[in-house]
Amino acid sequence: MVLLATMLALPLLSYASTYPRHNDHSHSHSEANALLSRWYHDSDHPVHALFRRGNKTDGVTYAAVGSAEWSKGFPDPWQPNDIDEKLIPPKWVDALNDAVARKAIPNVGVPKSENGGNPVYPNGGDPNSPEICSATYQCRIDGDVWDGPAGTVALSFDDGPSDGTSQLLSFLASKNQKTTHFLIGSNMIYNPDAVKKMFEMGNDLAVHTWSHRYTTTLSNLQVVAELGFTMQLIHNSTGGRIPKFWRDTDKRVSAIAKEVFGMTTVIWNHDTDDWTLTENPPQTTAEKIQSDMKKWLTGSKSPGLVVLEHELSKQSVDAFMAAYPLMIENNWKVAPMGELFGGNVSYQNAASNTGAVTLNNLIDAKNGPKPNANTNANVDANASSASAS
Ligand SMILES: *[C@@H]1O[C@H](CO)[C@@H](O)[C@H](O)[C@H]1NC(C)=O
Ligand SMILES: *[C@@H]1O[C@H](CO)[C@@H](O)[C@H](O)[C@H]1NC(C)=O
Ligand SMILES: *[C@@H]1O[C@H](CO)[C@@H](O)[C@H](O)[C@H]1NC(C)=O
Ligand SMILES: *[C@@H]1O[C@H](CO)[C@@H](O)[C@H](O)[C@H]1NC(C)=O
Repeated sequence: MVLLATMLALPLLSYASTYPRHNDHSHSHSEANALLSRWYHDSDHPVHALFRRGNKTDGVTYAAVGSAEWSKGFPDPWQPNDIDEKLIPPKWVDALNDAVARKAIPNVGVPKSENGGNPVYPNGGDPNSPEICSATYQCRIDGDVWDGPAGTVALSFDDGPSDGTSQLLSFLASKNQKTTHFLIGSNMIYNPDAVKKMFEMGNDLAVHTWSHRYTTTLSNLQVVAELGFTMQLIHNSTGGRIPKFWRDTDKRVSAIAKEVFGMTTVIWNHDTDDWTLTENPPQTTAEKIQSDMKKWLTGSKSPGLVVLEHELSKQSVDAFMAAYPLMIENNWKVAPMGELFGGNVSYQNAASNTGAVTLNNLIDAKNGPKPNANTNANVDANASSASAS
C-alpha cells in the first residue's frame, strides 16, 4: 500500500539475536514493559545514550548540512537497499540484543513481499493476529498513532525530500503552516537544501526509513539500520535532536522502534493513494482525492484525521494544496504530529524545533520541557549549543 521504490529481493539476514551479547551492557530497563503503551519517553530511555549530542566543551559541532563531512559515515545512498552492516554502530546492536533478551521484541518471523505485494508471513502467520498485528493489514497496535485528537488534522507527508518538496514547502510557508515530514534517509543525502529548509521552517523531521522498503520484511538488525541511520542523519542535521515519530510497521518492528530508539509509530486513518498519481496506471485521480477529502473534512470531527499524503510529486502536492482550503474552511486545527501528540514537542530531547539545542530547551520527556541540566542525564551538563549548520 505504501510501497513505492522498486523492491530488491535481498536475501533476508539472520535474526540479530544471534549476535553475541556484550557482557558490559548495563542499561536499566525496569519500566521497559510499560513503554509500549505510553506516548512519552523517559529521559533515561537508552536512545539518549545512542545519540549523544556533541558539545562545545570538546569542540564538537555538527557538520554543515550538505557538506561532505555531513554525509560521511552514512550508508551509500545510491545503494539504499544494501546497507553495509559494518557501518552499524555496535551500540545500536547492543541495544537491539538487549531488547531481544528482555523479550521486548516479538519473535514472529519475517514476512516476504513478492513484487511489492503485501508482506506474507511465514507458516501461515495471520497478519491480524495480536502477535503479528501488521499495519499494512490495518491491525492497530496499542500505543501506535492512528487517529488525530478530535477536531484536528495531523498533517504529515511521506517519502521526502522528493520531487514535490520544494513546492510543498513554499505553499506551507505562504500559509504559515507547519507539518511533519516522514523522511527517507537516503533521499536526505541528495536533497540537503530541502532538509535545511524543513528544519528552518520549524517542521517536525520524523523518520520513514532509509531505503523505503517495507520494514516488516527486514530482519531485526536491518530494521535497526533503516531507523538508526535515518535518525542519525536527522540528529546530525538538526543540531543534535532525536526524532520522536516514525511510520510503517507491524508489532515486531513497532517494538524495535520503541524499545531501541524510543520512537512512536504513526499510521493513518485515511489514505489518499496520492503516491499512485504518477504510477502507470494510477489508482486514483486528483478529482477522486478532492472528493474524498471533502467527505472526510466535512464529516465527523472525531476522531481527528491522520491522512496519508506524500511529497513525492507535483501531482501529490497539488492534491494537498487543493484540499487545504477545505481544512481551514471547516475549522479543523491543522498541525504537525509534534504539536498534537506528546506535549507540543517534536523531538525526544529538545523542546524547540529550530535553532541550537541549549540547556534551556533540553527536555525531560517524562516531566515535559524543563531547563534543568541535572534531569537530563543524556546530555553533558556543559553541552550548550550545537549549531545545525
Ligand atoms: C562533551 O564534553 C565532555 C567534556 O569535555 C566529554 O567528556 C564528552 O565526551 C563530550 N561529549 C560528546 C558527545 O562529545
Ligand atoms: C554525526 O555527528 C557526530 C557529531 O558531530 C559525528 O561524530 C558523526 O560522525 C556524524 N556522522 C555519523 C554518521 O554519525
Ligand atoms: C506549540 O508550540 C508552538 C511553537 O513553539 C507554538 O506556536 C504553539 O502555539 C504551541 N501550541 C500549543 C497547542 O501549545
Ligand atoms: C561545567 O562547567 C563548570 C565550569 O567550567 C564546571 O565547574 C562544572 O563542573 C561542569 N559540570 C559538569 C557536569 O561537567
